[in-house]
Order: sequence, then structure tokens, then C-alpha cells
Amino acid sequence: MEIKTVGIVGAGQMGGGIAHVCATSGYDVLIHDVAADQIDKALSKIAKNMDRQVSSGKLSKADKTSALARIGPAPIVENLKDCDMVIEAATENEDVKRKIFEGLCAILKPEAILASNTSSLPITRLAATTDRPGQFVGIHFMNPVPVMELVELIRGIATEEDIFETAKEFAISLGKTVTLSEDFPGFIVNRILLPMINEAIYTLYEGVGSVEAIDTGMKLGTRHPMGPLELADFIGLDTCLSIMQVLYHGLSDSKYRPCPLLVKYVEAGWLGRKIGRGFYDYSGETPVPTR
Ligand code: CAA
Repeated sequence: MEIKTVGIVGAGQMGGGIAHVCATSGYDVLIHDVAADQIDKALSKIAKNMDRQVSSGKLSKADKTSALARIGPAPIVENLKDCDMVIEAATENEDVKRKIFEGLCAILKPEAILASNTSSLPITRLAATTDRPGQFVGIHFMNPVPVMELVELIRGIATEEDIFETAKEFAISLGKTVTLSEDFPGFIVNRILLPMINEAIYTLYEGVGSVEAIDTGMKLGTRHPMGPLELADFIGLDTCLSIMQVLYHGLSDSKYRPCPLLVKYVEAGWLGRKIGRGFYDYSGETPVPTR
């Protein structure tokens, strides 16, 4: 099946990034969110991120203009009815995702492919709530989507082979390298990354080191581009906690227990960079550690 028009549900940092790379790769894109102002915010963020690519010579001005013209707002879900593929990139909450799929199945053409950008929820279980489990696939992008080379593809137990191949060709057409992961909690990247981030938070919680010491240690000691606490803020502490809970419950192993300090930060609403406070305070020019 040929994919021409891609619908994105969820206009947060992931949805916006996915819309960005789809548009610069020649797809028509419609972006939907329950909060209409979120769509406008995403569109202006996409334009700004494309400007970064223009200034570093990765995108021409003309290509930026045509890519932006390919992205349209979809204030109501019905606007997505002619999409060939819809990628759900909403919050990591299974109930929210189920409701989105229910709404989509009611309006999409029967041959349309449904994909989820979930960072850890079981693809098989999400697919089973839809009218098309065979046409359902996990396409997991990394943040920031325009920069990161990887896309994890996850096959649910019911995913049909030709649908999986179409999703693979689609991800490759976005200039990404694809890894295939079986449908287990956290897939590959988050199964490995999140326990490391959680351990960094335990290291802070137990007073082994300060925010700065932990991040400097991992940046300069293991050559990570960001320290684990800075990265946690970048991903979003609510997302980090959701993924740890999926690992903890899904694998029934206490080694995945979310750090109580992570839980506390999320309860406080200190969700990281997106709200201006997490392990760092982002209100000034340079981020300042909050502990
Ligand atoms: N859109 C477009 N371009 C962007 C961008 C965006 N959103 N963000 C950064 N860039 C570009 C910059 O313009 C710059 O381009 P040039 O090199 O061509 O000038 C380049 O990326 C580097 O950016 P900066 O110079 O601003 O900053 P940096 O060198 O500190 O790099 C970073 C920023 C790329 C984010 C880097 O710190 C990094 O790689 N961090 C780790 C990110 C990571 O691990 N992501 C995965 C998270 S896990 C995940 O996503 C899965 C999940 O489910 C939780």
C-alpha cells in the first residue's frame, strides 16, 4: 500500500517531531490534538526547528517552505479520515490511547494503517482494542525526532507481514535506521535506557552525588551527550515514570522499582524541561540544578 498522507495524533514534542520529518520527507501531514492551541504551538515549534536545519545547511529554504505547506492542522479527528496511516503520539496512558484508537477506527478507511509511538506499552494489547490488529504496528521514534537516527519497529502478535514491511519502508523513507524489537515491555531502547536513568535518580536520592556530579560523571566519564538527569528532564519525568511502571509491572521484577524521588517530582508537577522545572530549573539562561 502506498502512503501519501500521514495523520499524527498528539501535538507534543514527539508528535511535532514526527510531523516535521514526515513533511521534510515529502509526505502530506495532518496533525491533531484535543487541545487546539497545542496544534498551533507545535506548528510554530516545527517552523523554528526547520530554521535550525536551514541555518546549518541541512535543509534549503525552498524545501522548508514546501515542507511547512505540507503540514495542516486537524482540529477535529474526522479531519484524518482520508489518511493512509495514522501515528498516535499521545501521552503514555493506555486509557487515553485506547480512546484515541476508538475514535480513529470509527472514521478511517478500512485499509488505513494504525501505528503507535508508544515508548513501552504492549503493541499487541493496544492493537487488540482496535478493529484492525493486523494493520497495527509500533513505530517508536526517539527525541529529538529530526536529529536521532533510530526508529524502533515493534511487531504485535497479530501484525501482518506486509503491513510490517510497509512500516519499515516508511521509516527508512524518513532517513531513519530501523531496529526490530519484539513486543516486550520497554522494547529495546527503553528497557536499557530507563533503568539507567532510574539508577541515576537513586544515586541522587541516596546522596551519593549531586545533580551536577551525576551528570558530569556520565557525560565526561562515559561520553554520553547528555547526563542521565538532564536526559530525564528532556524526555519528561512523567514519561520516565510511566515507562518504569510498565517495566516494573510488565516484567514483575523489583529491580525496575521506580525511584521514590522520581515519583515525588512527578507528584509535584516538576515534569522536566517542558514545564521549566525538573532536576534543573530552566527559567534562566542556563539550567540550574534544583538539588
Ligand atoms: N529539531 C531539529 N534540529 C535539532 C533539534 C530539533 N528539535 N534539536 C537539536 N537539533 C540540532 C541542532 O540544530 C544542531 O544541529 P547542527 O549540528 O547541524 O548545528 C544539532 O541538533 C545539535 O544540537 P545543539 O547544538 O543545539 O545541542 P547539542 O549538541 O547539545 O545536541 C542533542 C542536542 C542532539 C539533543 C544531544 O544533546 C543529544 O543527542 N542528546 C541525547 C538525546 C537522546 O538520548 N535522545 C533519546 C531519548 S530516549 C527516547 O526518545 C525514547 C523514549 O521513548 C523515551
